[in-house]
Amino acid sequence: MRQSSLVVVANRLPIDDSVAPDGACEWRRSPGGLVSALHPLLRHTPATWVGWAGGTGPAPALPDVDGVRMRSVPLDQDDLRDHYEGFANATLWPLYHDAVEQPQHHRRWWEAYQRVNQRFAEATADVAEPGGVVWVQDYHLQLVPGLLRALRPDLRIGFFLHAPFPPPELFMQLPRRAELLRGMLGADLVGFQRAQAAHNFAQLVTRVLELPATDRRIAVDDRVVRIGAFPVSIDTAEMAALAARPDVAARARRLRQDLGNPRKVILSVDRMDYTKGIEQRLKAYSELLASGQVTVRDTVLVQVAVPSRERVGQYQILRERVEREVGRINGEFGRVGEPAIHYLTQPFDRAELAALYRVADVMAVTPLRDGMNLVAKEYVAARVDDEGALLLSEFAGAAAELPEAYLVNPHDLEGLKLGLLTALHADPADVAERMRAMRAHLHRHDIRAWAGSYLSSLDEGGALVSRLTSTDGGATPPVVPRPPSRSTIAGGTPARTGRG
Ligand code: ADP
Ligand code: F6P
Repeated sequence: MRQSSLVVVANRLPIDDSVAPDGACEWRRSPGGLVSALHPLLRHTPATWVGWAGGTGPAPALPDVDGVRMRSVPLDQDDLRDHYEGFANATLWPLYHDAVEQPQHHRRWWEAYQRVNQRFAEATADVAEPGGVVWVQDYHLQLVPGLLRALRPDLRIGFFLHAPFPPPELFMQLPRRAELLRGMLGADLVGFQRAQAAHNFAQLVTRVLELPATDRRIAVDDRVVRIGAFPVSIDTAEMAALAARPDVAARARRLRQDLGNPRKVILSVDRMDYTKGIEQRLKAYSELLASGQVTVRDTVLVQVAVPSRERVGQYQILRERVEREVGRINGEFGRVGEPAIHYLTQPFDRAELAALYRVADVMAVTPLRDGMNLVAKEYVAARVDDEGALLLSEFAGAAAELPEAYLVNPHDLEGLKLGLLTALHADPADVAERMRAMRAHLHRHDIRAWAGSYLSSLDEGGALVSRLTSTDGGATPPVVPRPPSRSTIAGGTPARTGRG
């Protein structure tokens, strides 16, 4: 295989194998925030993406996708169960999200995590050109920076965590905490979504590894590892252009008609994940219906919940509970031809998502904890008409950047109900003013600004940044968090949002 000067390493490739209606095997874009962030960025860049193609068995040979070479790393059944479903998604994922579900610990999972990380490191060492730049993504691959440095000390290695990084008291529960920290320190630059996460990491490195660390730099052997916050973003201009297309606007009008022309449409779009607060949101909506503060004739809720990590027990339980609750609410409050909740589990293409965003008077994004939440940013980018109220959890990374959203604490049921009502009845002038401010922010701090800011820090003086960010000439402002919100709803004191 030819070698590349930029190699992105992520658990998942941007394409997934799926079965078409005629039974043929086809490749389609895989859902999830990481792919949404990186895919538009790398398009037409001579880069290689090292990742898993979604099945088990030998690694498939894949075509280039928009000029990006795909290098697939195989996972067998044991790897899938113990690495992806086990250590990554039943140990680290719940632990990094405030342990809203109980993290599980099994020695076999740790062995698989090490084995799969080693395989990713070897595949990467094979495709990276001498002195090249490697950008490792997310919690599935925290050991890769250290393993790769041992194989290829000539590379510049970056690591970025899309998920939150937890406070020390949670991370300390991990039996193999020292190895995980050491793995990340194999990078030259460790990036997080929030400054608080970088702080948590520095504290842990000091406590567990006894290394001198500040929130910006850590001395490791004869090297300095830099750390920092780089809030990930979206291709704002692309989403805005899509949403402004006449066919998308027409589709939005059709959708509204199909929904029965209600006065208000509330929309939520999530992966089916217990971190997204879907059950809490349904409960709030159901109580509003029960009290008559919202009626089915007036207001509909569209809940898109694409299934995710379907073989992991906690996800199966969640799906059953959500579907039971949707059935109950529709049975109790729906009318013939007028369900209270339109519940959809299908993946949609980008134009259909943009049309859904345009039809939503209120976008309810209320995760219990989220590294960033790109759906919130996509909604803002799509509201080229400056209409639409964003109801946003304080516990989403996006809240630090979008203080003009209607912010809520999703753990506070009364606060959530009040938040929905406030957003539903908001003054259109106030809604427009908030939306304008958020859109302006996202046009400055888009996906290219994110990559530019991260890669210029990693590749000091290299040519990579201007190539990747070339649509706006390559000059990118650093991404900085915005001042605290003036608009937290209910519950009195705003909740602490500082856990990455
Ligand atoms: P996460 O990283 O936890 O998946 P994000 O909100 O950051 O959450 O990113 C989710 C991404 O997946 C967004 O880009 C969103 O548009 C996309 N997505 C979510 N649901 C669907 C769906 N039903 N069809 C297609 N894309 C979806
Ligand atoms: O950071 C969240 C994340 O794990 C991403 O890596 C990925 O884009 C998304 O969730 C979807 O998860 P999965 O790859 O497990 O389907």
